[in-house]
Amino acid sequence: MNDTAAAFHTAFGYPPEGVWTAPGRINLIGEHTDYNDGYVLPIALSQALTAAAARRTDGRVRFRSLQSPEGFDGRLADLAPGSTPAWVAYPAGALWAAAEAGTRVDGLDLLVDSTIPAGAGLSSSAALVCATLLAATGLHGSATPLEKVARLAQRAENTFVGMPCGIMDQAASLLSVEGHALFLDTRTLVAEPVPFAPREHGLALLVIDTRAPHRLVESAYADRRRSCEEAARALGVAALRDVTESGLGSALAALPEGAVRHRVRHVVTENARVLAAADLLRAGDVRSVGPLLTASHASLRDDYEVSVPEVDAAVDAALAAGALGARITGGGFGGCVIALVEADGRETCSAAVRTAYRERGFTAPAVFEAAPAAGAHRVHPA
Ligand code: GLA
Repeated sequence: MNDTAAAFHTAFGYPPEGVWTAPGRINLIGEHTDYNDGYVLPIALSQALTAAAARRTDGRVRFRSLQSPEGFDGRLADLAPGSTPAWVAYPAGALWAAAEAGTRVDGLDLLVDSTIPAGAGLSSSAALVCATLLAATGLHGSATPLEKVARLAQRAENTFVGMPCGIMDQAASLLSVEGHALFLDTRTLVAEPVPFAPREHGLALLVIDTRAPHRLVESAYADRRRSCEEAARALGVAALRDVTESGLGSALAALPEGAVRHRVRHVVTENARVLAAADLLRAGDVRSVGPLLTASHASLRDDYEVSVPEVDAAVDAALAAGALGARITGGGFGGCVIALVEADGRETCSAAVRTAYRERGFTAPAVFEAAPAAGAHRVHPA
């Protein structure tokens, strides 16, 4: 029995029927494009959430987490947005979204354990929702295509938790393939795994957890999303994805001067950078992705205004230490930076970031190397 299964047995007094795992993610490039129907290129991490579960037929749910003393016992029919505390909102939202969509889920005992650092922008919550949905639909014989699971997971976060996120994190956790980045069209959910194995090219992808306190994340995120939707309406397009790079000049001229023009410029140029990065990876040219990462960072910092001093300090220090490219990853306002470096320059780059943080009096960052992992799956019984 695996560890999560054993912990489930201890918590509930009987063994689980199955164990599922769902990974965290970083995004290589394509930031704040998903809620504009655009393109993203995320990677699943080896850090993952594991969920042990057993079906109940009495309409009750019990949730436990090895990361929180707080559990939950209640009735599935009573789960409603705003009805549950803290982390419980994610598995509760998952079951609520499934039930609302007419997917049979009945009841569930669930215990989760996670190696994804929480609050670091590595999508620990998307992994929790996705693992819960896979467990519930798997156990209740309502196996659901992964694209549909991703949409249910997004709905759980949007409507039950109240976070107006796009679909990148859920899709990355569910659809990723080991050794690949996931090129995803968020309008159609057509996904293409593109080879991404930096070590085969003498490179490494470092993830620098800035450990900067998240500031204003949710309200600033919702603001950005709203201005994009307003801009799309003003331009007469379904979403900013429909504005091409060649049409950018006239689109900007049609919008009022100020922040909205900058937001639109970011989204349009970022979509183009994702397409360029995917082409480079298909051609096996990992190295040339570096400058695109750095350009994406400049755009997120200056046009989209989602960076913070700790993030910029990590990007600048990594580039000064020879990184081929570096950028903020995820929603912003803290979280993680990625840096593409020569494999033998890993230590130099990490040390340079640590020194820059010490000099500026920031909390020491955590640095690890990303190894593109597989998407969510059942691990027990295999
Ligand atoms: C967060 C959201 C995603 C996406 C990113 C920004 O991670 O959950 O849907 O919008 O921010 O790219």
